[in-house]
Amino acid sequence: MRGRFITLEGIDGAGKSTHLEWLARRLGERGLRVKLTREPGGTALGEELRSLVLARRQSLHPDTEALLMFAARREHLERVIVPALESGTWVVCDRFTDATYAYQASGSGIAWERIAVLEQWAQRGLQPDLTFVLDVEPQVGRQRARSQKQPDRFESEEQAFFQRVREGYLRRAKECPGRIRVIDANGPMIQIQNELEKIISSFCSESVK
Ligand SMILES: Nc1ncnc2c1ncn2[C@@H]1O[C@H](COP(=O)(O)OP(=O)(O)O)[C@@H](O)[C@H]1O
Ligand SMILES: [Mg+2]
Repeated sequence: MRGRFITLEGIDGAGKSTHLEWLARRLGERGLRVKLTREPGGTALGEELRSLVLARRQSLHPDTEALLMFAARREHLERVIVPALESGTWVVCDRFTDATYAYQASGSGIAWERIAVLEQWAQRGLQPDLTFVLDVEPQVGRQRARSQKQPDRFESEEQAFFQRVREGYLRRAKECPGRIRVIDANGPMIQIQNELEKIISSFCSESVK
């Protein structure tokens, strides 16, 4: 049986990496084979593009940045995601196309429709089966991200930017209500994991029917 494709989204410090690991463990305990991956990244080219974009963000035109994201995504789908799904492995990815809408469109000002064109071109209709948007106040995300490590370019941008990114995610969630589940991620981890667990439980039972 084909694997399922699950993505985690949210602004920096929302808890994506933390809950990605947790989610993979929970799925593993259900006997599923799980591949963890991330965007930008996930392939050798993707990781190089990730470093390049994070380092040069200020000097890249937003269109260029969006095209690089989709170039990396095409490679990621072709070489990692689709083969894994076809072999029955579940793929859990830290960020995917909803992040391009949120960051490059809502955050950086590219027209929403231009991202939609690239999405169609690169994905040819393929979408995640389930997406969690971990929704936090930009201030909360910032505090969490700051205590963790040196901020990168994305993380050092101001609160207004993150507020726009957050709104981009919520707009996207309204557009794709069947696929995207918004989780209030301001609270303690246990509360978030309880929410995730409920959704994952019913998603897994639906998937094996
Ligand atoms: N609900 C939470 N409450 C408190 N701290 C959290 C919560 N979720 C994540 N953290 C902590 O915040 C930091 C950033 O989380 P992380 O998962 O790396 O976020 P992201 O990958 O979305 O940027 C980590 O140190 C993590 O342990
Ligand atoms: Mg992370």
